[in-house]
Amino acid sequence: MTAGSSQQAHIIVLGNEKGGSGKSTTAMHVCIGLLRLGYRVGTIDLDARQGTFTRYMANRFEYIARNKLAMPSPVHFPIEKSKAPTVEEQEQQDHDFFMMAIDELTHATDFIVIDTPGSDTYLGQLAHSYADTLITPMNDSFIDLDVLARIDSGTQAVKGPSIYTKMVTEQREKKKSRDGHNLDWIVMRNRLSSLDARNKREVGELLEQISELYGFRLAPGFGERVIFRELFLKGMTLLDMKEDPEHKMTMSAISARQEVRELLRSIAPETIKGYPARK
Ligand SMILES: Nc1ncnc2c1ncn2[C@@H]1O[C@H](COP(=O)(O)OP(=O)(O)O)[C@@H](O)[C@H]1O
Ligand SMILES: [Mg+2]
Repeated sequence: MTAGSSQQAHIIVLGNEKGGSGKSTTAMHVCIGLLRLGYRVGTIDLDARQGTFTRYMANRFEYIARNKLAMPSPVHFPIEKSKAPTVEEQEQQDHDFFMMAIDELTHATDFIVIDTPGSDTYLGQLAHSYADTLITPMNDSFIDLDVLARIDSGTQAVKGPSIYTKMVTEQREKKKSRDGHNLDWIVMRNRLSSLDARNKREVGELLEQISELYGFRLAPGFGERVIFRELFLKGMTLLDMKEDPEHKMTMSAISARQEVRELLRSIAPETIKGYPARK
């Protein structure tokens, strides 16, 4: 038995039913960030058909091997949606694979980071019901607020929860009745700076309102930065810059790294289930 093996890993799920909001990018950065704090991390890609997270990870393994680098990486599980003939069989198989991955990782790691597909799937919902922390990255725009709530386009009044928010509420209750714990839901505004100051403030005010109505908190997100694409191709993150032989330290990259650290701080791993922060 390894140290801490009686503890169950803290599960972080990345969710937002819109593709392109930054789930896979954030999943990778949170994972590497936690590894670099000294935690043991396992990862699961539930969007293995599109496979962004899994490709990101494969790029990393390749880059590390090619350059003979000593960099931390997680144990990674890609899970593809079942192709069984009936919906019942598919859900049973999806459930069994998911639970197998969780069982495999839960005592061997401190954190499990799960990336989910953009669309509404059984596997995605199941993962939400197991999340201790749910991170929803959203593009910083009025249009993208509709992933959280229905907004009156004229008055900008909140008319009700979105389908996604209803789903989160439902899975949150499932979790609560299963293990008695609350889901900590964090919404982060991604690709900041695409808006002018006034729009940015208005999106911020509406988000504050929605957060009180539906029970999430806001975390600082990442600015709009071209570096993310280059990092993906190498399997690197902003937290690997020092050891990446090809990396050029720019001011933009340093600010971006600071943003990732702020996000990690707001997840607050040092308070999660009593794990001490390890430098
Ligand atoms: N803050 C950002 N600035 C610039 N590009 C970003 C940012 N966040 C994500 N991207 C890019 O946007 C695309 C979609 O991001 P991704 O993480 O794959 O989203 P999702 O998993 O939600 O579909 C990727 O090409 C990624 O590199
Ligand atoms: Mg993705």
